Amino acid sequence: ADTVSDDLIKSIRTIPDYPKEGILFRDITTLLGDARAFRRAVDALVQPWAGSKIDQVAGIEARGFILGGAVAHQLSAGFVPIRKKGKLPHETVRIAYSLEYGLDEMEMHKDAIKPGDKVILVDDLIATGGTAEGATKLLKQMGAEVVAACFIIDLPDLGGRKKLEALDVPVRTLVEFPGH
Ligand code: PRP
Ligand code: MG
Repeated sequence: ADTVSDDLIKSIRTIPDYPKEGILFRDITTLLGDARAFRRAVDALVQPWAGSKIDQVAGIEARGFILGGAVAHQLSAGFVPIRKKGKLPHETVRIAYSLEYGLDEMEMHKDAIKPGDKVILVDDLIATGGTAEGATKLLKQMGAEVVAACFIIDLPDLGGRKKLEALDVPVRTLVEFPGH
């Protein structure tokens, strides 16, 4: 891996047995609290699109808001929140998505995206890909061109990348943690 990835890996804290036994929780609060790591992560995420015209960055509640806001600012793009159901005040489009256990729903304002908008989707981590797949489908329903989906962390053995590539969305990740 390159030096940026090596530095970023060191800034991510791993908590064993959280939220339940057997899970290794990858905690990005330590990365966010490290000014240099936070800047490097955002710079590295946007690097392929520096200087190209991106209309909107869509961030997924909650951890995707932190990074998505920074990425949008860096690209001089707008920011679109994709939220857990019931939080947005205006008319929305809603989609069910799969979690580890069962289903949840996420939504976006109907007028947040114009047909043909070039959109980058941002979240902190891709695991099974259920969350990002749902978000991608919502964006495409509204006519967005989803240029890419970007994550700091990939858990490659959970197969999320393939779900997005099946929807023709290129995936960019900065660090990988093999295993579950
Ligand atoms: C986590 C993470 C991603 C998602 C990845 O969010 O921040 O959004 O899970 O999992 P998947 O690829 O298997 O769908 P979580 O739902 O825990 O909520 P949070 O961001 O609000 O903490
Ligand atoms: Mg999340």
